[in-house]
Amino acid sequence: MTIITERTVLLTGASRGIGTFIARALAKEKATIVGISRSQDKLEQVSAEVRALGGRWIGIPYDISRLEGLPLLVQQITQTAGSIDILINNAGVELYGKFQDYSTNDLQLVLTINLLSAMELCRLVLPTMLRQKRGHIVNVASLAGKKGVPYDSIYSASKAGLLMWGDSLRQELACTGVKVSTICPGYVSQCGMLADTGVPAPILAGTSTPSDVSNAVIRAIKQNQVEVIVNQDVMTVGTTKLLIAMCQLFPLIGDAVYRWIGVPKLNQIRAENQMHAARKLSKKDQKLLQQLSEEYCEQESIFDDLRSGRRSSQHC
Ligand SMILES: NC(=O)c1ccc[n+]([C@@H]2O[C@H](COP(=O)([O-])OP(=O)(O)OC[C@H]3O[C@@H](n4cnc5c(N)ncnc54)[C@H](OP(=O)(O)O)[C@@H]3O)[C@@H](O)[C@H]2O)c1
Repeated sequence: MTIITERTVLLTGASRGIGTFIARALAKEKATIVGISRSQDKLEQVSAEVRALGGRWIGIPYDISRLEGLPLLVQQITQTAGSIDILINNAGVELYGKFQDYSTNDLQLVLTINLLSAMELCRLVLPTMLRQKRGHIVNVASLAGKKGVPYDSIYSASKAGLLMWGDSLRQELACTGVKVSTICPGYVSQCGMLADTGVPAPILAGTSTPSDVSNAVIRAIKQNQVEVIVNQDVMTVGTTKLLIAMCQLFPLIGDAVYRWIGVPKLNQIRAENQMHAARKLSKKDQKLLQQLSEEYCEQESIFDDLRSGRRSSQHC
């Protein structure tokens, strides 16, 4: 059993969505929470809630995709809050789209935030945990890492990577006192990256609440649980496990079930919505570009006139 009370917990993705529920659950356990995310204002909001619940809070705005700065970040945290006892890799991003439409940047972004930063943070905190013969690494993965999800392939790959890395690491760390738990939520309602899309999950896929996920995190730490699947309504945890096992044994039947549930359709809609949002943005950019290019052309024609002597410098 890992104790949470008065332990220092590094929680990534603490500013919104599921992360805020995990922060509040840790606060109720009277932990010291070091919350990381990019937005300082949102971290400050969480700070007030955590303190009101009895937890200690240190919020640090940092972009974890900047892997090169993580050693300094961990060093600063250790100096301020003491050694990190529990690391919760919760930060994540999701980009929907057809695989051929993704840019190299998209691939790098999702894999770095969802997978590489978790690995790097773990690599940095592990030596102290091993010296102390105690510690806990919690990776918030997803059911999308158990069975690939169309139009969300980079995300699926990143979560599958998180699952397999955690599985390897757990075996490697057996008997060291350092534990590894992986949390696999299905679709989460109320808030978070799914709710933010405004497109509800297919009814048959099941959903859970952010509290279900944060409760699972606390339970996994306290009871040293290896892997926790979080899914409810319609699709219970038991049914979800059976479905995943079936998908492993018979992938094509799994594909058919996913189509029947409506998973590819949902992601196609989300991919289109994201594309439209991007188009809207690029229209704005196009207008600006048009304006800039008109100004540029006007200037160029003045220069041209000057060069050819059609216009005197006084015209300018
Ligand atoms: N919601 C679901 O349905 C669902 C289902 C399964 C698994 N999950 C997993 O649960 C975790 C939390 O998801 P969520 O739904 O709560 O997502 P969310 O609402 O989009 O929140 C993501 C969190 O990650 C932080 N973050 C993103 N990029 C970051 C970066 N470069 N550096 C530092 N922080 C960064 C965000 O903060 P800033 O934007 O302020 O940086 C935010 O706090 C993710 O790992 C996700 O994959 C979610």
